[in-house]
Order: sequence, then structure tokens, then C-alpha cells
Amino acid sequence: MTDFTIYNFTSLESTNDTAKNYTDNFSVIVAGEQTKGKGRRGKTWISPKGGLYFSVVITDPDLLNLGIYSLAAALSLCEALPAKANAKIKWPNDILIGGKKVSGILLETATDPSRLIIGIGINISSFPKESLLSYAATSLKNENITITKDELLASLLDRLANNLTLPLQQIITLWQKNAIGIGKDIKVTLAKDTLFGVFKGLDAKGNLILSTKNKEKPDKIISCGEIYF
Ligand code: BTN
Repeated sequence: MTDFTIYNFTSLESTNDTAKNYTDNFSVIVAGEQTKGKGRRGKTWISPKGGLYFSVVITDPDLLNLGIYSLAAALSLCEALPAKANAKIKWPNDILIGGKKVSGILLETATDPSRLIIGIGINISSFPKESLLSYAATSLKNENITITKDELLASLLDRLANNLTLPLQQIITLWQKNAIGIGKDIKVTLAKDTLFGVFKGLDAKGNLILSTKNKEKPDKIISCGEIYF
């Protein structure tokens, strides 16, 4: 883990927001709790004490292909969790155990667009009530997975450093091996539309390929959205 510099905080509004003030590659901002944790699509990430909340700063990302970081982060977390968890990736970067969400990832760019912030939240000892969520949730404790926050963070950063050296196509192949839903009928909710079709896999940039029932229509390529099985 020599590449990473870890900054620990007892409490922050959002590790992603704090990380935007750090300019060194592989700075890692960790908080014991977040008072304004942010989720994807403007949602709140409920972040009480006991969970693992952190953000990794990546400098000079290939801005043409931010998708790679999203896939690499999800893959790394999947690999870092104990095998017993049988963790799976739900496109684009949620991690599920037993079909329930245990972790979410939020990518943001800093004001200087050559810096990317990868924010990761993991439910360790508790998880939000179903009524607050669009997707069923769980925690590692609830799934009887025992790993300390420090061990999980170290293992995840180790996997991430390794995966970021791989060519994109290899990341995509590994991502697909660890994902759920490929070949299945799915519903995709976009900002202003809902689509139905078969999840065929990822294209060369990591976008989701959706084939619609209408064989005459071309596959749809989706870069951003939420999928349901
Ligand atoms: C999601 O909606 O699934 C993404 C959740 C991302 C939460 C993490 S917790 C650490 C980092 N700081 C934030 O404010 N959000 C991300």
C-alpha cells in the first residue's frame, strides 16, 4: 500500500468534498462518519459511525474514459471482500451480497478536471431502512462477513492500484465475470426514460449494451442509469 497516503477524519460532511482539496495522486480521505454523505443521482448516502466511507484522489485521469475508473473501483471492491461474501457487481458500480446492496461508488471530478474523486461507501455494521431506498440493502455484519475496516480498506486499495495498471479490455472482462444480470431481462431507468431489454454486456468503453425486443432496432448503448432485474 506504499502508493497511497491516508488521511483519517472522525467526521466529515462528505469525504468526496474534502478530497477535492487534495491534489496528490492516491490521496485517500477516510471519515468515521459523514453528515452530508452523497449518493449517485443527487441522493443522500446515509453514513453513521461504523461504516467505511472514503474517497481516493486520482490525478490526470484519462478524461475520455472515466468509465474505466468506475469499473475498476467496483471490481476492486468485489475482489477485496472475503470470498465467502460472494459479492457481485450491479452495473455500473454497486456491490451486492445476496442480491442486496452493501456498497455504492460515486465518481466526481474536482474543480480542476484532471483530478478524479472515487468515493466509496460500505455498510459494515448497519444499513438504512428499506423505506429510504430504491434498492434493498444489507451490511457485512448482517451477512456474517467478518473483516475490519482497516483490512478491507488496505485490501481494496491494493486491488485498485493493481487493476488500474490493466488494459481497459481486461478490466471489462474481469468486471463482467463478477457482475450479475448479463443475459437477463432488465429495466433501465434513465434521467427521463425507462427502457426494457436484455443486458448483453459492456462495450469497449464500459457502457451497458441493451438489446431491445424489437430485433430491427439497434442495441442501445447506455452510459448512465440504474438497472433493475
Ligand atoms: C451510491 O449512490 O450508490 C453511491 C454512494 C457513494 C457513497 C460514498 S461514501 C464516501 C464518498 N463520500 C460521499 O459523500 N459519497 C461517497
